[in-house]
Amino acid sequence: MTILGIETSCDETSAAVIKANKNDTNVTILSNIVATSLSLHTKTGGIIPEIAAREQIKYIIPVIEESLSKANVKLSEIDSIAVTVGPGLIGSLLVGVETAKVFAFILNKPIIAVNHLFGHIYANFINESQIKEKEIEFPAIALVVSGGHTDLVLIKQHGKIEWLGGTRDDAAGEALDKIGRLLDLPYPAGPIIENLATKGDSKKYNFPRPLITSNDLDFSFSGLKTAVLRQVSSMSKLNDQDIANICASTQKAIIDTLLAKTINAAKEYEVKSILLGGGVAANQTLKDSITSATKFQIPDVRVFVPQKSLCTDNAAMIASSAFFNYQKLPWEKVEANPELYFN
Ligand code: KG4
Ligand code: ZN
Repeated sequence: MTILGIETSCDETSAAVIKANKNDTNVTILSNIVATSLSLHTKTGGIIPEIAAREQIKYIIPVIEESLSKANVKLSEIDSIAVTVGPGLIGSLLVGVETAKVFAFILNKPIIAVNHLFGHIYANFINESQIKEKEIEFPAIALVVSGGHTDLVLIKQHGKIEWLGGTRDDAAGEALDKIGRLLDLPYPAGPIIENLATKGDSKKYNFPRPLITSNDLDFSFSGLKTAVLRQVSSMSKLNDQDIANICASTQKAIIDTLLAKTINAAKEYEVKSILLGGGVAANQTLKDSITSATKFQIPDVRVFVPQKSLCTDNAAMIASSAFFNYQKLPWEKVEANPELYFN
């Protein structure tokens, strides 16, 4: 089966062609093209929805065209079209959804409506070059950490996803981006904070780790932002080392919390695998911390993290989710839903 994936939930416009056979445990990418309007948002410190939507309109057809030509696949060879229907920005989502509907109508192909959050999880089911077939065993815990979400879910089998907990306020990526703004770092601050943290002392500031010992699987990151603001306000002028120390201490506070709750969830539900997904999962320190804590505390559990380019928004993960949760819809039934969440 060959699937054309389309992802336009925020500031990335992406199209991908993937291929897989009926009982495959992973899909293979033939192409995965990503265009982004990020550079237009760096100065404002966050995404401006109107600008993101306008850029989506500019990019969508060229990106689809390039994904087909790179995959060396004709439109007539596509079996179905997978599209992100939510969550995300309505203007951006509509561009992908309406484009997918037009293709489905003209080509008489089915559409698979994909939840963007499932997409981040299913980035783990993509064959990566040089890596032999991954064997992800269920049940699994997935930690979805992105700019808009921080959620822990239990996956009993493909499509059977149960929400266990999530952030009560800011998402982990959102907290990093807001703290980046306090430090005058460009948007998105996550990768910059990761880089600066390598030069800093993560024990210099003891920033709060809210809910880390609570009995639930929830998170809270807004207090961290306030604590960093208080720290920054108390210092007359920040030098490069101060900034590096704040970055390292902030990153450590976030990772400690994500790590504690993920390990708790894996133990409680006696899972066989832990899957990370979402932009913040591109963070090497997070990946290394969860992998080594798992090895030490629950050695029978395996940790899976997609390669960096598959952690951030892309259409291959959307097509992958469609393959494993294949529910065809007629185009008339497909609608963008900015508020979509885990069921
Ligand atoms: O999944 P994503 O591309 O878009 C959403 O669905 O939100 O995630 C974007 C988020 C941003 O908040 C960004 O700062 C964060 O992921 N991020 C990182 C890293 N790369 C991206 N956070 C920490 N370390 C990174 N290396
Ligand atoms: Zn995302």
